[in-house]
Formats: sequence, C-alpha cells, structure tokens
Amino acid sequence: MNIRIRKAESKDVKTLAALDARCFAAPWSEQSFEEDVVKNPLAFYLLAQTEQGDVVGYAGVWLIVDEGHITNVAVSPDCRRCGIAKRVLNQLFTDCERDWGIRAFTLEVRPSNDPALALYESFGFRPVGRRKGYYADNGEDALIMWREAEPKEV
Ligand SMILES: CC(C)(COP(=O)(O)OP(=O)(O)OC[C@H]1O[C@@H](n2cnc3c(N)ncnc32)[C@H](O)[C@@H]1OP(=O)(O)O)[C@@H](O)C(=O)NCCC(=O)NCCS
Repeated sequence: MNIRIRKAESKDVKTLAALDARCFAAPWSEQSFEEDVVKNPLAFYLLAQTEQGDVVGYAGVWLIVDEGHITNVAVSPDCRRCGIAKRVLNQLFTDCERDWGIRAFTLEVRPSNDPALALYESFGFRPVGRRKGYYADNGEDALIMWREAEPKEV
C-alpha cells in the first residue's frame, strides 16, 4: 500500500476521532484530539495517508523533557499487518531525535493486547512495571514499557 507519513494538523481532528472510534473500545473524542494535536505545544502527532487521501493510521507522543511518552498508536482495521504502524513509529522516533534530541520512550499497554505488545517489542520496548487497574472500562492493569536510548558512539 502506498502511503505517506505527515504531521497531523487541525484539519485532521475529525478524521482522527473517527479512526479512533474504529480502533478502540474507549476512543478519544474530537475534543481530546483538538486539545492534543492543535493546542498542546508538547504533543506531536504523525498520521499515515493513502494516495487517495484516506487517513489509515496515526501515532502520538508527549515530549516530556528528554523523554517521549507515546499516547496512542492505531491503524484502521482493514489496513493492519501492512507495516503502517511500523512506518509511523519509525518516523516518530526519527523526528523526535532529530528535532528534540529525544531517544528514550515509554508507553502503557494492556497486557492482553498481543498485536500492540508484539509491535512495541519489535521496536525494543521492554516491560518495566504495571499500573494496577489502570484501564477504567474493565479494570485491567497497564503494562509500563520503556525503549531506552542506545548508547551514542563517542
Ligand atoms: C497495534 C496496531 C497499531 C498494529 O498496527 P499494524 O499497522 O497492523 O502493525 P504493523 O503491520 O506495522 O506490524 C509491525 C509489527 O508488529 C507486530 N504485530 C502487529 N500486529 C500483530 C498481530 N496482530 N499479531 C502479531 N504481531 C503483530 C509484528 O511484529 C509486526 O511485524 P511483522 O508484520 O513483520 O510480523 C493495530 O493492531 C491497532 O491499531 N490495534 C488497535 C489499536 C491498539 O490497540 N493500539 C495500541 C494501543 S497501546
């Protein structure tokens, strides 16, 4: 699939909320995307768009000093296992290092979310702890994962 990765903007808020509704049991609202994508200067979102203009995936990060906190990653159900999440995350990590010097990333994920766990592990994320009963909808714990910076050559 031919896709391009670009920064999400205010014009994408509606589309991102619609995509989220297809990907999560408790999706973010348009207002939440508005807050993060448009108003939060410490948030950075990339999306994947097809040649036809359809937004088929996105990932977001909060830039907290020298760490990146991944907020969400999602790919349209009909476009999964085509490497889209991989491409978006790769670009996100590259941009974060280039523009803000961020090389360490963390995130929370449901221990039951096998596709997401496999994706994050493929990027070198490792589980370091749990937040008990983190997810309000079913009381599931969150697994805390970190991807540490590789030592820089000196
Ligand atoms: C998790 C998610 C974003 C993956 O998106 P995707 O575009 O299908 O992932 P990719 O095709 O880039 O996969 C990259 C790698 O992740 C792993 N992976 C992704 N989906 C997987 C699955 N269903 N089963 C096993 N491994 C999987 C594989 O290692 C894969 O590499 P490979 O295809 O070469 O084996 C997608 O399944 C999704 O949107 N899920 C619902 C939302 C969600 O749970 N987001 C994460 C919140 S923490």
